[in-house]
Amino acid sequence: MTKEIDILEKTKLPFSELGVSSGSEIEELFRKLLQKAEGEAKSISTEEQLEELRIRWLGRKRGVLTLVTENWLVPAPPPSKPWVGTYLNWFKEQLANLVGYREHAIRTLAEQEVREAHVVDLTLPGNIPSHGARHLITQTMEEICDIFLRLGFSVVEGPEIETAYYNFEALNMPAHHPARDMWDTLYLNLPGGAEPLLLRTHTSPMQIRVMEKQKPPVRVVVPGKVYRHDNPDASHSFMFHQIEGLAVDRDITFGDLKGVLDHFLREFFGPQTRTRFVPSYFPFTEPSADVHGSCHVCGSAGCRVCKFTGWIELVGCGMVDPNVYGFVGYDAQELSGFAFGMGVDRFAMLKYGIDDIQLFFQNDVRFLMQFRR
Ligand code: DAH
Repeated sequence: MTKEIDILEKTKLPFSELGVSSGSEIEELFRKLLQKAEGEAKSISTEEQLEELRIRWLGRKRGVLTLVTENWLVPAPPPSKPWVGTYLNWFKEQLANLVGYREHAIRTLAEQEVREAHVVDLTLPGNIPSHGARHLITQTMEEICDIFLRLGFSVVEGPEIETAYYNFEALNMPAHHPARDMWDTLYLNLPGGAEPLLLRTHTSPMQIRVMEKQKPPVRVVVPGKVYRHDNPDASHSFMFHQIEGLAVDRDITFGDLKGVLDHFLREFFGPQTRTRFVPSYFPFTEPSADVHGSCHVCGSAGCRVCKFTGWIELVGCGMVDPNVYGFVGYDAQELSGFAFGMGVDRFAMLKYGIDDIQLFFQNDVRFLMQFRR
């Protein structure tokens, strides 16, 4: 009995030495080859092994398929050639399918392993995405404006670049008036500008712009940035924020002004806040006053915040000077009104115990995060 030669060994033999002649014998050869391939495919489990399998059977240079093409098909005599060709094609297709299925199986397994390794632990705390928040100055501005909105005021905004007319003249400060020195003004030397432009030193110019546009009654607050030629230190900045207020109607009295600011300061600093109105001077109000609030830190007992006086200067205010009405075509005989102005940065510093105004503008998130709401 001759020993059966391994089918893989037979691929190295030329067709003439295979000892096959009929179609079914040829078919048998290819079936055995395929069985061999299937056996190998079963035992592999990694992508590397799959690649080795592919090269071994389908590799162009020394793959089994190439081998049988060269050894069996090419030298096959004409009567057998169509059979060899037919089964060779079938075999090639089966091999491709085999490798394809195996590849799919290995991939699926790998993906499943990844999934299982990444099981979601629902008991873990979630990742809170970091997001921005409003700056404390913005928050304070909104808080102040909200109090006045509830009193029937509306909120308007205006330009930061102003003319000397709105910043000074129409506010009852003619050119060369010494009161202009109350504000260290930053002028803009723009070429060809007919009128001198400046960065507004206060929000008061909006009093004029509002009255020019709107007939009485007027009740507005104006939040915004203002600029002064100051050296920066813990209480000074060349840019800071103010809120202006203006109310004009018939029969408005100093009593109304007191009532409004009293209420506002209690809303902002707390119901225990007391106020006192101290005579002062502003060119655009007559009479004028500074409003002091009782120290919210020590309750007027005296502390560092109120410099041991028990009181803190908070708001500048007064009854609108009749001269101002002349600039906007309001009838000073018919109308009366009050105006006030306050520093937003200062209010925020007092309320939240911040001792350096520069902190607002350095954008250090460690500072800002404390006021995230
Ligand atoms: N504009 C003034 C300033 O910046 C503040 C001020 C005082 C505004 C009295 C007013 C007011 O409307 O009546 O110093």
